[in-house]
Amino acid sequence: MSIHTEKILILDFGSQTTQLIARRIREQKVYSEIHPYTISLEQIRELSPSGIILSGGPASVYDDDAPISDPGIYDLGVPVLGICYGAQLMMTQQGGRVEQAEKREFGKADLQVDYTAGLFAGMETSPSHYQVWMSHGDRIEELAPGFEVTATSAHSPYAALRHAEKPFVAVQFHPEVAHTLIGTDVLRNFIFGICGCKPEWTMHSFIDSTVREIQHKVGDGKVICALSGGVDSSVVAAMVHRAIGDQLTCVYVNNGLMRSGESESILNFFRQKTDLNVIALDAEKFFLDRLDGIADPEEKRKRIGLGFIELFEQEANKLGDVNFLAQGTLYPDVIESVVFRGKAPIKSHHNVGGLPERMKLDLIEPLRELFKDEVRELGLELGLPEEAVFRQPFPGPGLGIRIMGEITAERLHILRQADVIVLEEMKDAGWYRKVWQSFAVLLPIQTVGVMGDGRTYEHVIALRCVDSKDAMTADWSRIPYDLLGKISNRIINEVRGVNRVVYDISSKPPATIEWE
Ligand code: XMP
Repeated sequence: MSIHTEKILILDFGSQTTQLIARRIREQKVYSEIHPYTISLEQIRELSPSGIILSGGPASVYDDDAPISDPGIYDLGVPVLGICYGAQLMMTQQGGRVEQAEKREFGKADLQVDYTAGLFAGMETSPSHYQVWMSHGDRIEELAPGFEVTATSAHSPYAALRHAEKPFVAVQFHPEVAHTLIGTDVLRNFIFGICGCKPEWTMHSFIDSTVREIQHKVGDGKVICALSGGVDSSVVAAMVHRAIGDQLTCVYVNNGLMRSGESESILNFFRQKTDLNVIALDAEKFFLDRLDGIADPEEKRKRIGLGFIELFEQEANKLGDVNFLAQGTLYPDVIESVVFRGKAPIKSHHNVGGLPERMKLDLIEPLRELFKDEVRELGLELGLPEEAVFRQPFPGPGLGIRIMGEITAERLHILRQADVIVLEEMKDAGWYRKVWQSFAVLLPIQTVGVMGDGRTYEHVIALRCVDSKDAMTADWSRIPYDLLGKISNRIINEVRGVNRVVYDISSKPPATIEWE
């Protein structure tokens, strides 16, 4: 159930830009939620949306296994906007025809608007050329009964459509991307003009409605939450605590793979500034024993994940009848873990996966629909300190996946010292918040160097700094040479056992952000 009053429901057909649609709408202060296209009509009714958007997607509507949403949505009396694949699906479901186009249309196109109401309210027919962004190989060949054309482009005679009587509209272009210069206007016209929404959604109202939702779901049950020291779990803990107070207990497991000081400050905050119950477990030795001699990345991830679950479960059992697990799942986690058409997930992401079924716990995931920057905004609104809110993301398996090869106390010590230098210098130069992540990686090789008059044969540190919006794609950060030089000098001078520093200039894809 969902208590957010006005909302736009987005049905996802697998487009890379579906999440952008949600963002663009929330930027207009209207709440929006993304659900897979397989959502049932019953669930849609329960969500009671003010409008429905059918997203784009890579499939063709005439494929045998094409993703098809329930056609009952057209009988709900709710406005529907189809985008790209969504437009083609709407046409097919309403009785039109879609075929493979002779010429694919990809990139910028000139849109000629013929109808200046509805989606194009406020625009002009003369001059009527607006830059939009297209990406399609199929095109609408025959309109469904009742529909008429509202805009055209060179290769799409049906670039935008409206139903003459019903609130159904469709666009072949992508209004959510920045290259569509009128994109925001088109979406605004849909949500305000056609759906009649009001711009009333803010982080403040999100907190209010989510707090009520959590209270309603939990009743007088007990909730546990794994606090990692990172932004997401801290925000979840603060949010759930606000809703149900001491019915929440947090467990913090120090797996010995944390950055120096990374979690202490957050623990201090919760202990000193709130009355949140936090159980802290020191499990450094436990994890180092389990990782002894293990060099394979997936094996490391599995052992760390399983060890965590084991300890967490023990603590939870001590608490007695716990009913819920609160988790900081974000929107990108939701899509990265969706197995699309049988493709294997890229890495086994470490979270408390497996626990909920084993312990029969219901999940509470209040950040499920949010992006990282929205979570940060929420954290500030909940009163978390800036320093915690703007902390860079840190992976669950911690430094374990930044040490290539075997993890030993000595190698951890080297990496921690290098890592502190990277952070200090990035912060000092004002670059810490400009990048998505900046960290050191310890390589499994040694190289020859010369220090004083002597030959050295020591470790290599790789420096990884990336820019990203949501970790799904990333590029290496163009940080100044002088800053790179300073970091390198300090690491080589101050960290015993390191004689070389290299900078990673790979983007994701094809590389990933972490090295393992
Ligand atoms: P990759 O390396 O897959 O990382 O490009 C994408 C983002 O996810 C973080 N990451 C993790 N976070 N558990 C986490 O909570 C994990 O197992 C994990 N592995 C990677 C990584 O730091 C980056 O921000």
